[in-house]
Amino acid sequence: MSSLIFLFRVLVVLVVATLSIHCGATTETDTAKDIYIVYMGSLPEGEYSPSSHHFSILQEVLGESAASNSIVRSYTRSFNGFAARLSDEEQQIIASKKEVLSVFPSKKLKLQTTRSWDFMGLTETAKRNPTVESNVIVGAIDSGIWPESESFSDEGYGPPPKKWKGTCAGGTNFTCNNKLIGARSYKLGSESSPARDEMGHGTHTASTAAGNKVPDASFYGMAKGKAHGGVPSARIAAYKVCDEEDCLDLYILAAFDDAIADGVDLITISVGGDYASPFEEDAIAVGSFHAMEKGILTLQSAGNSGPTPSTVSSVAPWLFSIAASSIDRKFISKVTLANGQTLIGNAVNPFTLNGTNFPLVYGKNLTTTCPEDVTRLCADTCLDSKLVEGKIVVCDQASGRKEAFRAGAIGAITTNDGRDDIASVVPFPTSALTDTDHDIVKSFINSTKNPQGSILKSEVIEHTTAPIAASFSSRGPNPIAVDILKPDITAPGIDIIAAFSPHASPSGAPGDKRSLKYSILSGTSMSCPHVTGAAAYLKTFHPDWSPSAIKSALMTTAWPMNATKQVDDVYGEGEFAFGAGHINPVKAIDPGLVYEALKEDYIKMLCSIQISYFGTCPKGVKGSPKDLNYPSMQALVESDKSFTVNFPRIVTNVGSSNSTYMVKVTTDSHINVSVKPSSLSFKSLGEKQSFVVTVSGKGLPAKARVSASIVWSDDTHNVTSPIVVYTK
Ligand SMILES: *[C@@H]1O[C@H](CO)[C@@H](O)[C@H](O)[C@H]1NC(C)=O
Ligand SMILES: *[C@@H]1O[C@H](CO)[C@@H](O)[C@H](O)[C@H]1NC(C)=O
Ligand SMILES: *[C@@H]1O[C@H](CO)[C@@H](O)[C@H](O)[C@H]1NC(C)=O
Ligand SMILES: *[C@@H]1O[C@H](CO)[C@@H](O)[C@H](O)[C@H]1NC(C)=O
Ligand SMILES: *[C@@H]1O[C@H](CO)[C@@H](O)[C@H](O)[C@H]1NC(C)=O
Ligand SMILES: *[C@@H]1O[C@H](CO)[C@@H](O)[C@H](O)[C@H]1NC(C)=O
Ligand SMILES: *[C@@H]1O[C@H](CO)[C@@H](O)[C@H](O)[C@H]1NC(C)=O
Ligand SMILES: *[C@@H]1O[C@H](CO)[C@@H](O)[C@H](O)[C@H]1NC(C)=O
Repeated sequence: MSSLIFLFRVLVVLVVATLSIHCGATTETDTAKDIYIVYMGSLPEGEYSPSSHHFSILQEVLGESAASNSIVRSYTRSFNGFAARLSDEEQQIIASKKEVLSVFPSKKLKLQTTRSWDFMGLTETAKRNPTVESNVIVGAIDSGIWPESESFSDEGYGPPPKKWKGTCAGGTNFTCNNKLIGARSYKLGSESSPARDEMGHGTHTASTAAGNKVPDASFYGMAKGKAHGGVPSARIAAYKVCDEEDCLDLYILAAFDDAIADGVDLITISVGGDYASPFEEDAIAVGSFHAMEKGILTLQSAGNSGPTPSTVSSVAPWLFSIAASSIDRKFISKVTLANGQTLIGNAVNPFTLNGTNFPLVYGKNLTTTCPEDVTRLCADTCLDSKLVEGKIVVCDQASGRKEAFRAGAIGAITTNDGRDDIASVVPFPTSALTDTDHDIVKSFINSTKNPQGSILKSEVIEHTTAPIAASFSSRGPNPIAVDILKPDITAPGIDIIAAFSPHASPSGAPGDKRSLKYSILSGTSMSCPHVTGAAAYLKTFHPDWSPSAIKSALMTTAWPMNATKQVDDVYGEGEFAFGAGHINPVKAIDPGLVYEALKEDYIKMLCSIQISYFGTCPKGVKGSPKDLNYPSMQALVESDKSFTVNFPRIVTNVGSSNSTYMVKVTTDSHINVSVKPSSLSFKSLGEKQSFVVTVSGKGLPAKARVSASIVWSDDTHNVTSPIVVYTK
């Protein structure tokens, strides 16, 4: 399967967005101080006090008393650096010091909002190793956690593994146990339990990765089943860096600093920016680099800015960047019109209206204050309660349901804002229709004397075309490292049910007072912990594997996704949407061969693009990011020219000691792919063999993407790598 696809949107949008941030920082007046991260790399060996070093750097620039007011946080446990309030001039002086690798503003990031495990083949009966599993600690950097959730009950768990050095610092009204073994908060929540999750997001993601088995979890009886995480016996440590407002770089780095030193095995972080930052200004890339150095794999959500190309915001090669796709279940909510027509919309709508015919009114008529073109959207505060009472309101945007709910309508019919692949939890009877169906409702209202209709309770139907890349899932190509394919892989992220915070509004609408233990969310935030669970599962079989080996095993055994089976052309971006494909955790236990990369390999790759922030570059370093021993292969080439690109790779045998692998290439007429040698023989486990993939072609048009793949096969393993060649 290979294809040539032309991208419709242009990368320029993104470049402009990135620049505007840089400009934002320099337009501040000289006296204004912002919080900057001063990054100083790994901690030196031997006697060294990082805190006093940080203080003396500040003191030199600011003077003694100003220095102590300026420092916000020191990172002292797992890497070296600090956060401080600095003027633009001060940060420039500090950046010029030789011990300082990079200085960047502390950005505001955001959260990227049980049947899913069965869907990907990790069923309850899958082979497991519960004793080893209970030694795995998943560190979750998110919005905190709800400690009393049944998903985190510790019945049947022994004490935490010996390697655990963390603590339960969740406050006086926050108790850890042998399942939830640690909690820290950098964001202040309630004084008595600052690590408590008031949003539901952190509870949802942690329980998806490693929650307990809880029978009969459901959303008002819908999508009923046993809820469980990927590794139900594993332990969880929660690090709270987000609240309703934001997630600050400053806190994210503090959480990495602690989680690494506390002894977690994996880090899951469903947090990111709207666009990618250069590695040395990306707190998650910096923190995860030091995690990788200590053998800890970090998994990050790819972002929710799709389907626009080049929106992926998780881009560093040592990160595992996770896209989102559908599962075989879909929530629909029907709209009936008095003329007998039925329209099928999307919503997680557990409400039953008492009766079949309610007056239908178009939002734009229902105001005394706002202009019609705003009110038709049911914009905040525009609807007049007296005009909506007892009526179903028709709104021209999905979020109009919140305003209709606030104003006291009995229901809302909205558009789906072009996203017909997700169903939102709604605060009252609502259905979100496609534009075509929404127009049918509007013309019915316009052409009928007493227009009436109803909204039916949601039904859960089978979604036979799954998995399909989610419309919202951020897309490649990678805007920072153009020759590294991102996202890496995809997993379920649409309408996922998992544990929730009883304090949070399930629909996000103010005034939705329902208090739920389990709720439904969509996002790459939800797909990321699925892969974290799968990676933790793999770690129970191969506790000594490096982060890159675990990532390679999941990528090379992924289910192939059908690039042409996407929603439409705009979403049909193949590997830019889903990377190597859909995770297949059970298959990944025995991948046959793995592509490994260690700290030195990443440093060499960074040096090849003149980045020396993560380690000293040897003199005269050559090469290209295409040389990094990555499980996928990507190259940006010039349009209308001939090209030849080499990908040198090394595979390590983790299958059978005596084995011979033959290569199979899949490509189309746009490129030629050759592999030398075309067979690899191994005599022992752990043996490494190298080969080179050469890709050539000519005359690709602008904005083109060509996909191909290579598969190394012996009798029992298929080791698949996608190849992507594209033009600007
Ligand atoms: C502890 O927190 C829970 C959840 O916010 C609350 O319901 C309970 O009243 C708190 N208990 C105390 C003693 O503060
Ligand atoms: C329908 O009636 C039942 C029973 O009277 C009530 O509990 C429910 O809230 C009503 N539904 C709506 C949407 O008003
Ligand atoms: C709503 O507005 C349309 C046109 O803007 C008008 O024709 C219609 O009569 C209005 N309906 C009501 C109930 O005011
Ligand atoms: C309602 O019908 C009139 C006349 O048929 C048309 O001009 C108008 O655009 C329609 N309005 C809507 C909202 O469909
Ligand atoms: C991919 O999807 C297209 C369109 O639905 C279909 O024609 C094709 O057979 C599919 N290919 C595979 C390999 O499933
Ligand atoms: C591997 O093959 C060699 C030679 O073919 C043989 O001597 C050796 O016993 C084999 N090892 C295993 C584990 O099968
Ligand atoms: C692939 O190789 C063949 C044989 O050398 C050549 O004829 C063909 O033009 C090549 N195709 C491309 C796209 O370069
Ligand atoms: C490897 O792939 C080939 C071709 O798709 C397939 O026939 C074979 O069953 C696969 N082998 C394994 C062990 O999955």
